[in-house]
Amino acid sequence: MVQIPIAIVGAGGMGGRHLRALGALYESGMANVKLEAVCDTREENAIFLADFAEELLGSRPQVFTSMEDMRNQRPDIEAVDITTDSGSHHLVAEMAFDLGYHVLCEKPLSLTVRGCNRVIDAWKKSGKVLSVAEQERRDPICRLNKAVIDSGAIGKPYSFLLGSATGGDTIIILPWRHYKNIGGIFVDAGVHVVDQMMYYLGDIEEVFAVSKVWEPKRYKGDRIGVHDFYDRWAKEVPDEIDADAEDMVISTLKFKSGAVGQWTSFFAAHGEPINYSMIYGSKGSMVPARQRRGDPLTLTIDGVGAVSGDEVLELVPDFHLDELTARLFGSDRLGSYSLPLKDPDRFLVALEYYELGQCIADGTKPEVDAYIGRKDLAVCNAALESSVLGRPVTVEEIENEQTAQYEASINSHWGI
Ligand SMILES: NC(=O)c1ccc[n+]([C@@H]2O[C@H](COP(=O)([O-])OP(=O)(O)OC[C@H]3O[C@@H](n4cnc5c(N)ncnc54)[C@H](O)[C@@H]3O)[C@@H](O)[C@H]2O)c1
Repeated sequence: MVQIPIAIVGAGGMGGRHLRALGALYESGMANVKLEAVCDTREENAIFLADFAEELLGSRPQVFTSMEDMRNQRPDIEAVDITTDSGSHHLVAEMAFDLGYHVLCEKPLSLTVRGCNRVIDAWKKSGKVLSVAEQERRDPICRLNKAVIDSGAIGKPYSFLLGSATGGDTIIILPWRHYKNIGGIFVDAGVHVVDQMMYYLGDIEEVFAVSKVWEPKRYKGDRIGVHDFYDRWAKEVPDEIDADAEDMVISTLKFKSGAVGQWTSFFAAHGEPINYSMIYGSKGSMVPARQRRGDPLTLTIDGVGAVSGDEVLELVPDFHLDELTARLFGSDRLGSYSLPLKDPDRFLVALEYYELGQCIADGTKPEVDAYIGRKDLAVCNAALESSVLGRPVTVEEIENEQTAQYEASINSHWGI
């Protein structure tokens, strides 16, 4: 199989997770990309990732601190995987296209619609591939969620109720997730949630929301992030920070289909955390399975009762996973799986890499393209704009920049 030479740009926590994903892709026997370089403006981070790559993949990628140098010294590299912090995506992706790279860009595509459009303009001019790294929908059980909804098993979807509450006043992962101009936690996590909601029920057209910054001071917790992904940077996290990004957003959502959503995203919750998700339709309800957990989804169907686990597969006889997903997870029809979280974590990103390689090789379109990436962001920013204006805001208004009071200070910070 032809292996397309690529580089990881951004050697922080997610850069490390992407590297582990490359390890999974190499192990699968279906590797169509090959890591040749890592680039980070912080050289020590790039060296750390290159060391890790040498250990994990058996060959050492070259280290760079600028993409221009990388372009000059390694003209063979065809694509970059951008895992820099969210605020920088529009700059790094735009430069990548100008330098002639194909791009896989971590979500969110940018923090504002204007930033997304800068990337989209550069991408269109370049004729290269742009894929947004939104991996959650690629989970086999999320694929099953979608197939079951599409089968009509719960009838016409009426409502999507979901929420999570956690966080208190601790710093979540790294300080930048509490700075509006670099990528607040609501947008950081919210684009994933929005992507899933729209994957299942179609586009959201209008949002009415109230947002808050409940905890303007945040404190270093006992550990940062999940697993050991961010351990290396724990000592750099200050004991206390001033936060200006929203830590609570409660939204009512109108889907184009007519379905109505109610979404609570609460990162300043003290006491007991919660996490819930339920889709109600005209014939029953569904607790959609969460990505990376492998838990079975559960349906309650009028006149039938509870259906869960492998029984759910009987409702979708034609449901099959693609070849790489089946290889990684062990079957092309899964009602649940039991794996340590680190495995699905790397498998889902491996699927993104494989798709990138395919898109470059044969012109296949990426599943999560620039327009989906922009819409995922626009729904989050519609919620934030709605809270500023005190009225419902359409996603179209945000995508067309008809109103951009929330985004204005971010655009001004980045001079765009
Ligand atoms: N898909 C997911 O599940 C998921 C999970 C975590 C993070 N992310 C996303 O990944 C991105 C990175 O997050 P993170 O937690 O790894 O952040 P991080 O702060 O740990 O790492 C960012 C790295 O990018 C480097 N960097 C910044 N600007 C750069 C530039 N212009 N050129 C080269 N390197 C640069 C930094 O030095 C740092 O090493 C964010 O956009 C985040 O939203 C996605």
